[in-house]
Order: sequence, then C-alpha cells, then structure tokens
Amino acid sequence: MPPNPMFKKRLNHSHHNRTHPLVWLAAIICTVFAIAAIIAGIAAFIGYIVIHPRIPTVSVSSAHLNLLRNNLAGIFQTQVSIVVRAQNGNGRAHASFSDMLFKLSYQEQAIAFLRSDPFKVEKNSSRYLNYVVESSSIPLTPQQMAEMTNSWQRNLIGFDLKGSARTQWRLGRLGSVKFWCHLECTLKFHPLNGSYIPSRCTTESK
Ligand SMILES: *[C@@H]1O[C@H](CO)[C@@H](O)[C@H](O)[C@H]1NC(C)=O
Ligand SMILES: *[C@@H]1O[C@H](CO)[C@@H](O)[C@H](O)[C@H]1NC(C)=O
Repeated sequence: MPPNPMFKKRLNHSHHNRTHPLVWLAAIICTVFAIAAIIAGIAAFIGYIVIHPRIPTVSVSSAHLNLLRNNLAGIFQTQVSIVVRAQNGNGRAHASFSDMLFKLSYQEQAIAFLRSDPFKVEKNSSRYLNYVVESSSIPLTPQQMAEMTNSWQRNLIGFDLKGSARTQWRLGRLGSVKFWCHLECTLKFHPLNGSYIPSRCTTESK
C-alpha cells in the first residue's frame, strides 16, 4: 500500500518548520518594537489633544473694501485692506511662521496674493500683518459681470481667501513641532460703504 500522500506532506512540513532560535529572537524584537510604536502613537495622540488649543493660528482680524469699480465693458478694479493676525497662544514657547501665502480671488478670478517673510511671534501674543491689495484692470466674463451686478443690488460681495502657512514651535525639550495650517474662507463686504462683515476666517481646527 503506498503511503498516504497527505501524511507524508505533513511530516515534511513539520520537519522544515522547526523554529530556529534566531527567528524567535527576531519575532520578540519585532513585537517589542511594535508595542513601543503603539505606545508612542498613543502618547503623541494624547499630547496632541492636550496641546491642541494652543496651536498657533492665522486668521483675518479685519478688512475693508476700499474700492470696487466695474464698467460696462466688464473691466473690474478693486482695492481691499486685510489685517491678518498670527496668534501664538502658547505661553511657554515662541512660534515661527513661514511660507505664508494666501490667494484672494473673486469668482475664481485671482486678484492678489498675500505673502509674508518668515517671522516669529513671542509667547502668548499676536502679530498683525497689514495688507492693502489691489487688482489692476481685470476683465470679467459675462457670468462674472452678472454676479457683480447682483452684488451691487444686494449690497453684498464675497471674495475668497485661500492658502496656507507653516508654523513651527518648540515643545519643551522634546524638539519642535512643525505643521501646515490651511485657511479657506469668504470675506464679505457691503460694496456701498466698503464695510467688512465679520465672519469666522481662521486656520483653527474645527
Ligand atoms: C496670556 O495672555 C492673556 C491675556 O493676553 C493672559 O490673561 C494669560 O494669563 C496669559 N497666559 C500666559 C501663560 O502667559
Ligand atoms: C455699511 O452699510 C451696512 C449696510 O447698509 C450697514 O449695516 C453698516 O453699518 C454700514 N457701515 C458703516 C461703517 O457705515
């Protein structure tokens, strides 16, 4: 009677499977590393939740529509003042801001870019950046013109502000934390007197 092939296979298998002590060692080391990684992840997560409210933020603190002009040919001119506030709510460390770039647009038509050189904000304080941006003559499409007419009639116009900045701050002796913060909001104005309608425009997380 020929030997049962299944049985033979199992025998071979168990023979090859005798675990070498080095394999055990590697498995133990891997497990220790995996546990350490999980603990570090949990600690970072808890740390993030605890420090979260103190993360530096960038927001629009005020604005004014200085000029808004459009003619029948659809040529559009505007000038807007925007005060951007960089805030460091952290009481123990200064924060650095860099790579700040925001795009101001109207109906997807870029008007201007707001940039800044890198700067620092002391502990628990803010820095205000004043921008006066203007567009030279921008031609509008018929659809954008219709929207503009509508804005005048409703005495309400919105400009989109979108962009990001990089902030960095020291976390005690643990080193520094670096991250991008993103800003995306609509600045609303009354075109008739240029006043800004305050709304939430900040990089603060929800
Ligand atoms: C931060 O400043 C606010 C007022 O601007 C003050 O009430 C608060 O005590 C300060 N916190 C620290 C940690 O300095
Ligand atoms: C501008 O006009 C709006 C709407 O007519 C009004 O609510 C607002 O108070 C005015 N602002 C100023 C500074 O006159």
